[in-house]
Amino acid sequence: GHQWRGVIEEYRDRLPVGPDTEVVTLREGGTPLVPAQVLSERTGCEVHLKVEGANPTGSFKDRGMTMAITRAKEEGAQAVICASTGNTSASAAAYAVRAGMVCAVLVPQGKIALGKMGQALVHGAKILQVDGNFDDCLTLARGLSEKYPVALVNSVNPVRIEGQKTAAFEIVDMLGDAPDVHVLPVGNAGNITAYWRGYGEYAADGTAARRPRMWGFQASGSAPIVRGEPVKDPHTIATAIRIGNPASWEFAEAARDESGGFIDEVTDRQILAAYRLLASREGVFVEPASAASVAGLLKAAEQGKVDPGQRIVCTVTGNGLKDPDWAVAGAPQPVTVPVDADAAAERLGLA
Ligand code: F0G
Repeated sequence: GHQWRGVIEEYRDRLPVGPDTEVVTLREGGTPLVPAQVLSERTGCEVHLKVEGANPTGSFKDRGMTMAITRAKEEGAQAVICASTGNTSASAAAYAVRAGMVCAVLVPQGKIALGKMGQALVHGAKILQVDGNFDDCLTLARGLSEKYPVALVNSVNPVRIEGQKTAAFEIVDMLGDAPDVHVLPVGNAGNITAYWRGYGEYAADGTAARRPRMWGFQASGSAPIVRGEPVKDPHTIATAIRIGNPASWEFAEAARDESGGFIDEVTDRQILAAYRLLASREGVFVEPASAASVAGLLKAAEQGKVDPGQRIVCTVTGNGLKDPDWAVAGAPQPVTVPVDADAAAERLGLA
């Protein structure tokens, strides 16, 4: 039978690989584009969710990582390194296993979700917790890759962006054209850069008739692009986007300006409300950072910025299982019952 071959094989002619390139893949991509009924009703639009938590390691990072590790292997690297708020490191660790490479990861101490730490550990990565934030980790990773024989696989590595642009291709392939608006969470700003590039390439050769407006959302405590200056001590419960000085800052601004879009902020409270709405009303369990796109769409709708009747895609970037603490926190404790149908029925309100 046929199965999705992974983003490099599916889009080989649009990616920087040669005919003999040996591809390192976990068959990432091909993720669901799910119609969002409640969000559509609330906005008067046709809203879809691009569910990137369905990737092999549970986030969109796999699209870029298949390219980065494929390239590193082609160049003979034996070890790779990344700085990460958790998802990049989980992905790098898994793809490094496939390639038979050593993987080193630098994470901000105490600020990465348990599931992501578990992934890096179980895939056998060498983990250093850095006494600093993500921005410090990235500085350190860059320095190490310049001085020592280890390939950097953060999105400052341009082939990562190339891999990630395939998500835009999939959306156009599915919908027949680009949406009117594309909404994303913004952290290090690689993904908004990648989508804009993907939409641009499809528009340039006529595969798509148009490009969307790009709307990006940062967490209020970590919103350097909104503030117009780096944030020294970024904070947010959405640890994946707890970033004060994004590496792809200028590219994100270009995506915003060239598309006629905007980059705004959402509070942690708005993020958590969207997180719960996605899970309880749409049946889609994402991690808090991913809910920033949906929180942003709802904020924009409340501000009257959303014209009804548009087609809107929100990328939800990572799986809710990565960071289950937020699902459990504040939820009522399940009650315990004896093995007795009547007692169980009563507790369930069936009796
Ligand atoms: N959503 C999730 C779940 C993420 O893990 C990230 C970034 C983003 C959104 C933001 O994407 O950085 O391209 O603007 N995570 C990186 C990491 C920083 O290390 O895993 P971005």
